[in-house]
Amino acid sequence: MTPKRLKDKVAIVTGGAQGIGRAYCLNMALEGAKIVVADVNLEAAKKTATEIQKKAGKSLPLRQTCQTSPAPRLWQGKRWSALAG
Ligand SMILES: NC(=O)c1ccc[n+]([C@@H]2O[C@H](COP(=O)([O-])OP(=O)(O)OC[C@H]3O[C@@H](n4cnc5c(N)ncnc54)[C@H](O)[C@@H]3O)[C@@H](O)[C@H]2O)c1
Repeated sequence: MTPKRLKDKVAIVTGGAQGIGRAYCLNMALEGAKIVVADVNLEAAKKTATEIQKKAGKSLPLRQTCQTSPAPRLWQGKRWSALAG
């Protein structure tokens, strides 16, 4: 069984819908984190978030075009209440 080292943590994974990002999403979810799948491709993000919900735990898809600067204000807004508890 995977150790729950990330219990009570929330991970925002940019480019999380596919490829390397998706792998991080799934593995951090298996370690107990709640996952925000942030990606320009919302449909793919929804698919990955649904996969996480089935296999591991809580996850939300988020359409987000990520930039290195300035840092996006991903953590603001009431959407995050869905990951509480
Ligand atoms: N796959 C490899 O072996 C490998 C090796 C070294 C480096 N890289 C680099 O790592 C990165 C990811 O690789 P990958 O294979 O997972 O790519 P990928 O194309 O499979 O997945 C990238 C994901 O990021 C999303 N995305 C792209 N631009 C975005 C943006 N501005 N904001 C939010 N989401 C965005 C895409 O929609 C996609 O879901 C790339 O920059 C790639 O060049 C990949």
